[in-house]
Amino acid sequence: MTRATYKEEGRRPDLQLRDLLVDLASSDCDFVVIGSSALAIQGWDVAPTDLDLMTCSTEIDPIKRWLGIHEDDTPWVQDGEASRLECTTDRGPVDLYLEVSGDLTYDQVARDAIAVVLGSSALSVRVGSLDHVRDMRAAVGRDAMPAGAVAPAAKQGAPKVVAIDGPAGAGKSTVTRAVARRIGFTYLDTGAMYRSVTLAVLERRADTDDANAIARIASGVDIGFRDDRVFLGDRDVTGAIRAADVTEVTPHIAAYPEVRTAMVERQRQLFTEGSFVAEGRDTGTVVAPDAPLKIYLTASPEERARRRSLETGEPLQRVLGALEERDRLDSGRRLSALKVAEDAVVLDTTGRSIETVVDEIVGLAHERGIV
Ligand code: C5P
Repeated sequence: MTRATYKEEGRRPDLQLRDLLVDLASSDCDFVVIGSSALAIQGWDVAPTDLDLMTCSTEIDPIKRWLGIHEDDTPWVQDGEASRLECTTDRGPVDLYLEVSGDLTYDQVARDAIAVVLGSSALSVRVGSLDHVRDMRAAVGRDAMPAGAVAPAAKQGAPKVVAIDGPAGAGKSTVTRAVARRIGFTYLDTGAMYRSVTLAVLERRADTDDANAIARIASGVDIGFRDDRVFLGDRDVTGAIRAADVTEVTPHIAAYPEVRTAMVERQRQLFTEGSFVAEGRDTGTVVAPDAPLKIYLTASPEERARRRSLETGEPLQRVLGALEERDRLDSGRRLSALKVAEDAVVLDTTGRSIETVVDEIVGLAHERGIV
């Protein structure tokens, strides 16, 4: 069994959780343990003997069994201000926790949450720890997870994709974000990728009818997602890609086969690196046809226009007209047209609350054994 504690001699770190999680995401680990004291600091109701295995209740016992932990004969060791569980298991010594010690302070733990990773290729339990870490970060006013961080659980077997496609204004972004958060997968906004290419095209004043120029831009742009922000190279373009001109031109740019090929390739590459809940138009039909859960989210045009108009303050009739035009372009294009995948679950969000829709999708993800 391999173990990484980030607490080894000389490595007592000025550790940033984000770095740690990105590191963990690319390591061969099975689960993450976070010290009970770190949770207690957040006001969680945990007894000092809680192991805090950051897993769902049905999986705690298998993990304990696998580690050979018998709580009765496990000594708690006082370590600075914290107690630490030193377990001798039949797989060797395991420090389950991690706690404050030495020059680390409780404040630091509260800020960054110190994690221990236990790794083994033999262990095949699923653990969703990022939600807990996210909650802890939220409790101390920190941002959500970085886009690149994926649950170690996602590394068990093939990465998974939940595809959420549908027309503009159906509630995709809100629903997709919420589902990703609930199941601990990474959120991917594929629309933001097409918008970013369009922004680059407009900023470079390229001729939007020049297929070669557009293709060159699409294959050259460096689109990144970090902390819920969208980047073109080093530049944060989260706001810029929502500008009205970008919104209007994007369906035209997104219809170029070269643009689609470049974006689909990037999305597929991302999907091999972790588990995602991705929103788009063609995720379930083209990008990830094997996705174990596909949702087609829709709502009546009037409802979608009403929501957009409330969001942007634009007059309802104008929004409705623009939306119908976008639908027409997205559904009518030759490649990757917006359509319902045969095996998609169609959810009409008209008159429904976001929460009930999210609950339904999370329920389906559980039913299908995705989480
Ligand atoms: O989802 P969003 O409204 O941000 O998408 C903007 C535009 O990007 C869509 O109208 C569509 O033309 C294009 N798009 C696409 N394929 C995707 C996602 C978005 O063609 N997977």
